[in-house]
Amino acid sequence: MNNNWWKHAVFYHIYPKSFQDSDGDGTGDIRGIINRLDYLAALSIDAVWLSPVYRSPMVDGGYDISDYRDIDPLFGTLDDFRELLKRAHDRGIRIMMDLVMNHTSDQHPWFTESRSLVDNPKRNWYIWHAGCNGKVPNNWRTNFFERAWRRDPITGQFYYHSFFKEQPDLNWRNEDMKQAFFENIRFWLDMGVDGFRLDVVNMIVKDKLLRNNYPSKIYNRNQPETYDILREFRKLLDEYPCTTSVGEIYVLPPGSPKLAASFLGSGNDMLHMAFDFSLIFCRWNARKYYSAVQSYYDALPPAGWACFAFSNHDMGRSLNRFGQMRHTHEKARLLAVMLLTLKGTPFIYYGDELGMVNARIPRKQIRDRYGKMIWPVFMGRDRGRTPMQWNDSAGAGFTLGEPWLPLHKDFRKVNVECETADENSVWNTYRKMIELRKTLPALQQGEIEFIETGRNGILAYTRTLNDQQIRIALNFNSRKQKFSYFPRNCKILFSTSRKIVDNKDNMLLPFEAVVFTEQDV
Ligand code: GLC
Repeated sequence: MNNNWWKHAVFYHIYPKSFQDSDGDGTGDIRGIINRLDYLAALSIDAVWLSPVYRSPMVDGGYDISDYRDIDPLFGTLDDFRELLKRAHDRGIRIMMDLVMNHTSDQHPWFTESRSLVDNPKRNWYIWHAGCNGKVPNNWRTNFFERAWRRDPITGQFYYHSFFKEQPDLNWRNEDMKQAFFENIRFWLDMGVDGFRLDVVNMIVKDKLLRNNYPSKIYNRNQPETYDILREFRKLLDEYPCTTSVGEIYVLPPGSPKLAASFLGSGNDMLHMAFDFSLIFCRWNARKYYSAVQSYYDALPPAGWACFAFSNHDMGRSLNRFGQMRHTHEKARLLAVMLLTLKGTPFIYYGDELGMVNARIPRKQIRDRYGKMIWPVFMGRDRGRTPMQWNDSAGAGFTLGEPWLPLHKDFRKVNVECETADENSVWNTYRKMIELRKTLPALQQGEIEFIETGRNGILAYTRTLNDQQIRIALNFNSRKQKFSYFPRNCKILFSTSRKIVDNKDNMLLPFEAVVFTEQDV
């Protein structure tokens, strides 16, 4: 088996509540995912990143874990998970779990013990403080903008939480906790999981002196000790050949390629990959995409490897970030070509391969606590978490019951059944591009060199490996655009807008994304 498989793989991100329900309760589950493995295989997906399926009170959609070694009954059982792993592996699909290291649920037995007594042996497994003259220890705020310290009635002291109060932060300076946590990681590695996506991993260590954050959040994240922990984590992972990891490096817009890349260490001793949010924050602008991508490449250590995602379960769907909802079909197809031809591992958020867009969720149906808290300033994260659209039946093929979140109203047109039958659908763009990526090593591993960096709304680059050279041109404009590097007799390997070689005038068609070569491939 190839230790570097993840560099050539196409990842698919499943938000389990919304992918496929198998028992009619309206919520997706593991058996549902098993039933859809053939779908993933038909798309030639190599690996799945599964948002959390652990036992959880579900205050934060499963990112509040009360048992790291069990599956929540909402999603099924440990045996279901084992079966998923086996059946996925049988098809050559790997499974990457979500790993929440920053905090647990307040229902986790570690926290129950920790909060019980000031001198409980697990007291320092979390971050406690007596307070300053009865007040909170410092001015730190949660990621949801609330005060981040909570006085616990049992001992009268404060505990720290970066997210909801039901998600107390673990103390990664405590060696015993760290070892116990690493044992939890081993539990899944021993079972055969192929890696982890590390939730907000840049936040796991906090300033020793708990200094006030002012003016920016410098003391409750990105602490140097985090790198040491990640080195240890990597050593553990390396005991299990062919495993991989990707970290969520949480930052506000415009993103921080340097910070994300710093968590790769030398490229071989910390995370395998790290999400930089710059691309997710980009507007519809070729130059902006160029500079986001190039800055990430520039920031990578020599042995480092990039990865890219346009959407996720927090940030919603990419197509809603480009102002007016016009030409979404064309934009979705161009993004697919870009994602699958950049140098770096692509992550596809479930439903993006259909061109799904954010839904408008009526206030009463909002399920995300964050959305409920600050509505209408922010409607919450549900909009990008609506059920997968499989077909045009009442539950969109997602459920026979009442879906846990309303379906997007476009599901009768935007769904797998319709799109697989349509040559020019977003789905077929993804499918063909994934296939092309698989057949052309230059698209997986080749060097990248930009030939157009956004001038006139065009992004163009070459991917070269040994003597194979592939070119890609993306026209972000809604009108035709001259593109002088488009040789007349080139071979078109894929185009969103033309069927055959008909490059008569060096023009790119509106929103065209084209992959071509001057060689015989
Ligand atoms: C990450 C997750 C998000 C969750 C938060 C707290 O950002 O992606 O969904 O709310 O961490 O765990």
